[in-house]
Amino acid sequence: MSQFDWDEARHGLGVEAMDGVHREFLALARALEDCPSSLFAERLAELAHHTEAHFAAEEASMRRTNCPTLSEHVAEHGRLLADLRRFSTAVQRGRPAMARAFLEDGLAAWFANHLATMDAALAAHLKTRQGGAEADRGEDD
Ligand SMILES: [Fe+2]
Ligand SMILES: [Fe+2]
Repeated sequence: MSQFDWDEARHGLGVEAMDGVHREFLALARALEDCPSSLFAERLAELAHHTEAHFAAEEASMRRTNCPTLSEHVAEHGRLLADLRRFSTAVQRGRPAMARAFLEDGLAAWFANHLATMDAALAAHLKTRQGGAEADRGEDD
C-alpha cells in the first residue's frame, strides 16, 4: 500500500481525461518511491515531463472554456513545477535527499490538496459546460 495508490473515492473527479492523467501521475510517483538510486534521476525527469504535459493540458482546457479559477490554478502548477525542476537539478548533481524527502512527505499531500481544490473546481466547471466532454476535446476553438 503506497500513499500514491489510486483511490477512486479520493481521487476520481468524474472527468475521464483528468482522471486518466492523474492515475498516470500517481503511478509515476509510486515508481519513483520504490526506485533504486541508479534510476532515480531518470524517473524523476519522467515525472517532471509528465507533470508539465498534465498541467499544460489542464491550462489549455481552462483557457478554452474561460474557467474563472485559471490564474490561481496556473500559479499553483507553476510552484510545483519549479520545485520539481529544482529537485531534478539537485539529483543530477548527486544530491537526491531533498527530492526523496519531498516524495516521502510532501508530494502526496500536495496532490490531494490540489485535487480537492483547483482540479475539483476545474472538473465542476467542465461538467457544467459540457457534461464533462469538454476535457476530452482537442484544440478546436
Ligand atoms: Fe491535475
Ligand atoms: Fe491542476
